[in-house]
Amino acid sequence: MKLLIAGNWKMNLSVTDTEAMLSELKNKTRSDDVDSLIIPPFTSLDAARKLLDGTGIALGAQNLSHEDDGAFTGEISADMLLDLGVSHVLVGHSERREYQKETDALLNLKVKKAVAKGLIPILCVGEKKADRDSGEHESVVGNQLKKGLEGVHTTDIIVAYEPTWAIGTGDVCKPDDAQAMAAFIKGELKDLLGTDAVRVLYGGSVKPSNVKELMAQPSIDGALVGGASLKADDFAALINLGEVQ
Ligand code: PGA
Repeated sequence: MKLLIAGNWKMNLSVTDTEAMLSELKNKTRSDDVDSLIIPPFTSLDAARKLLDGTGIALGAQNLSHEDDGAFTGEISADMLLDLGVSHVLVGHSERREYQKETDALLNLKVKKAVAKGLIPILCVGEKKADRDSGEHESVVGNQLKKGLEGVHTTDIIVAYEPTWAIGTGDVCKPDDAQAMAAFIKGELKDLLGTDAVRVLYGGSVKPSNVKELMAQPSIDGALVGGASLKADDFAALINLGEVQ
């Protein structure tokens, strides 16, 4: 499966910063062997779309509403995202599960809405440190998958395994552990969807210096990157699997 390197900017980079970053990224050589995706904040989607046009880099959003339209102040619908050229959308990033208290039931509605509208949802799953320490990591992730994908019957989805303890901490998951979890996720997907032909990404402190080893794991099909996706040099190096251009 072709690798996908996705940059989740979180609540970073203004429109001006977005224009500067993507103008620089456009001038860097990128390997065609890897698919790439930029996931800026909503406010930068329009600027990003214009700059990414013709580059082959896809555009994603960080969240969507499970509703179509109406009195939902502060929410953004799937149609609004499609209108801006968005093809992928994060669902259930651990920061939204934690700070916005998004539940598996709500995330299931969001996954279904994205799929129904033709957006590719990137369902984020991952255990907390205490779950891993107590050996519960597979059952936690298995449960998130089962609930998040209930009633979903498509392979046009992506799953991102992001152990919360590895996000933004520099404490990257050991490649063997990330591989074991990615293989476990593929097994669960086979049970849930009837196929494991679904990309499974790893996320959590991925950087140019560790991306190659993580991406060499047989069950890992890409990376979801936060901090190291904010600078053009770093993101270009990630797409080139660590080779600095
Ligand atoms: P990080 O974030 O690369 O900064 O650890 C990853 C993510 O939250 O998607």
